[in-house]
Amino acid sequence: MNYNNKKTLKDIEVNGKKVLVRVDFNVPVKEGVITDDNRIQAAMPTIKHLIENDAKIILFSHLSRIKTEEDKATKSLAVVAKKLEEVLGKTVKFVPQTRGAELEAAINELKNGEVLLFENTRFEDVKNGEVVKAESKNDPELGKYWASLGDVFVNDAFGTAHRAHASNVGISENIAESALGFLVEKEVENLGKGIDAPERPFVAILGGAKVSDKIGVIDHLLTKVDKILVGGGMTFTFMKALGHEIGNSLLEEDKVELAKEYLAKANGKIILPVDAACASTFADVEPTFCGLDVPEGLMGLDIGPKTIELFQKELAGAKTVVWNGPMGVSEFENFKAGTVAVCESAAKLDNAFTLIGGGDSAAAAIKLGFKDDFSWISTGGGASLQYMEGKALPGIEAIQSK
Ligand code: 3PG
Repeated sequence: MNYNNKKTLKDIEVNGKKVLVRVDFNVPVKEGVITDDNRIQAAMPTIKHLIENDAKIILFSHLSRIKTEEDKATKSLAVVAKKLEEVLGKTVKFVPQTRGAELEAAINELKNGEVLLFENTRFEDVKNGEVVKAESKNDPELGKYWASLGDVFVNDAFGTAHRAHASNVGISENIAESALGFLVEKEVENLGKGIDAPERPFVAILGGAKVSDKIGVIDHLLTKVDKILVGGGMTFTFMKALGHEIGNSLLEEDKVELAKEYLAKANGKIILPVDAACASTFADVEPTFCGLDVPEGLMGLDIGPKTIELFQKELAGAKTVVWNGPMGVSEFENFKAGTVAVCESAAKLDNAFTLIGGGDSAAAAIKLGFKDDFSWISTGGGASLQYMEGKALPGIEAIQSK
């Protein structure tokens, strides 16, 4: 995918203009507290540039998914506005509405360099108790209305780039000028470097529970990589395809044939685990280690020590590494060793371009303190996965070209 031709913030004049900025502030909130503000931090370059260049800044984002009126009580962006003020060190005017007179007046009162955040765009998905999905199905009226609130649209929400919603595609289609924000610009630059123009050897590490979630990625990456190291629950569908015993491990019976096809097509590029850390139930207990076969009564919950060694050997000397998905149940103390080891090995590589495709693996790397040791950690799980599948991202496609 090449998005080099898209207009970016540097290509547009923002001084004195009402600039609508779609950000992805879909951050984890536990009991009213934001537990990870990386996405807010990641939007800072764009917001600061707009402040420094005297724009009137209108920010908006979704937070989680809204399916009922009750969801709205716990999914307000008010908590994000507070955090944003803290991170930015500047007043943020929060408007608890997604449309209407109060919002319009607040926008009209904005002075150059001031920042406003309006309410969760997905509140538009439920109206008077009825699920209408105006935001999520890109209702044409909504995109047009939001576009009418500003002069220019900046899309800096990489995490939502794989969605064609009113707050990204809808606005883009109805506004005079649009551009990518600095975060999205960096995301596509780094994903392009990692996936489309990799220096070799190029090694991908794929984990996660299901083969079915990674079909598109395996398909696309097999045409690009030198090796794919496979871990996580999906391992066992591949092991079954090879005729191994997998005990009670996770299995997608209907994907065994597909796994066989991949293994045949991969021509040795797919590297599977040679051992596993197992338990008799899905619980954080002392692991029992097994080899290629998982005996009856046990389930594999992480890659084993021999696999860690094997993966470390495969990673040594790699010039490009792309990682998506944990190697085991990394939220369990006893089954996180594989994910930690892979993360550490990739982080420590010298002279390699190392990329994490968002989601759980990004969260794990940040939690483990490796945030600054990777070349790029994407802020978008679903969006980077779609990029890795070689599929277009509608939120970016909709932005004007230079
Ligand atoms: C994400 O967290 O991956 C993005 O914010 C997109 O959220 P969604 O999957 O609810 O569209």
